[in-house]
Amino acid sequence: MLVAQFSSFGIDSLEFAEHPAPQPGPGEVLVRVHAISLNYRDLLMVKGLYNPKLKLPRIPCSDGAGEVAAVGDGVTRWKTGDRVAGIFMQNWLDGPLTPAKSKGALGGDIDGMLAEYVVLRDTGLVRLPEHLSYAEAATLPCAAVTAWNALAAGSLKPGATVLILGTGGVSIFALQLARMMGVRVLGISGSATKLERARSLGLDAGLNYRETPAWDRWALEQTGGEGVDLVVEVGGMGTLPRSLGAIRMGGVIAQIGVLAGVAEPLPLALILHKQARIQGIYVGSRKDFEEMNQAITLTGLRPVAELFPWSQAREVMARMEQASHFGKLVLTVE
Ligand SMILES: NC(=O)c1ccc[n+]([C@@H]2O[C@H](COP(=O)([O-])OP(=O)(O)OC[C@H]3O[C@@H](n4cnc5c(N)ncnc54)[C@H](OP(=O)(O)O)[C@@H]3O)[C@@H](O)[C@H]2O)c1
Repeated sequence: MLVAQFSSFGIDSLEFAEHPAPQPGPGEVLVRVHAISLNYRDLLMVKGLYNPKLKLPRIPCSDGAGEVAAVGDGVTRWKTGDRVAGIFMQNWLDGPLTPAKSKGALGGDIDGMLAEYVVLRDTGLVRLPEHLSYAEAATLPCAAVTAWNALAAGSLKPGATVLILGTGGVSIFALQLARMMGVRVLGISGSATKLERARSLGLDAGLNYRETPAWDRWALEQTGGEGVDLVVEVGGMGTLPRSLGAIRMGGVIAQIGVLAGVAEPLPLALILHKQARIQGIYVGSRKDFEEMNQAITLTGLRPVAELFPWSQAREVMARMEQASHFGKLVLTVE
């Protein structure tokens, strides 16, 4: 079977290789992968920025969807033909995260989904929402579950206001899920065209952060001076100070990402004054994924994805690096 792996760091090191076809052992499931989605984390992983000590070669990518091709002895949860996706952290099934549950992340601690076939434990899978194609469902394990838990961190009621940063995978899922919950969404982007697309998905108001860098002030204006209830914080040190400026008193920052590299001093006074809560988010458990899938099935939500043949894996990773995409980038296995 074909896999794509990297033996040294760098996008150009991502190469296809022939591996022996894997067989499921007791309690394991063989999945024929039909589609894989990329996350910014996969790009960091391939470039050696996520974990410079990563053991190589490694098959990247946490997110993939496919069908069960065979099951090992003792497997009763799954049968051949079931449509499934792997869960991000193979050992985090339920409850709060612990050091033990955080081990076993696909495409990091262990080989990932950028392969024709993968063998996973029978507990490390969820069933796909029926209305979604494999390509659509491949977008869910990391970005969507993260957005789902970011919104959950705000204990939002319908009518609350959320601010999303940019229009990448996590942010567009946060927009779609927030609209599903009856929550108002403000968003910033570096592109007028992307803001227009976000509006078509329900964005209530948008601002170009390249033209107007003081988006924290804009968010306050949009909320009558009060501030937003929650920021889906994908930028990190380069955006956190403004995110703190944008929240209301008692508001929440769902701290997720590291996209904006430039470090600004952290305005500690704002954290105290606003009684801000900064909640770290690390994807989520299998139970979170299953609950989100129920909501996706109920509302018919369709992920926003651009599709490419997986032979273009390198080019699509480079595309993610350039940040020209909107929503998710998906590779389909031919
Ligand atoms: N903690 C977790 O569990 C978890 C899970 C998933 C992702 N993450 C992290 O979250 C971040 C987002 O991941 P992703 O996969 O959604 O990334 P992505 O799809 O690559 O998103 C990139 C987009 O972010 C926007 N952006 C970049 N710099 C920005 C800035 N300074 N201010 C505002 N927006 C900016 C841009 O949107 P525009 O072009 O519209 O401006 C860009 O297109 C990454 O750092 C990733 O590692 C963490």
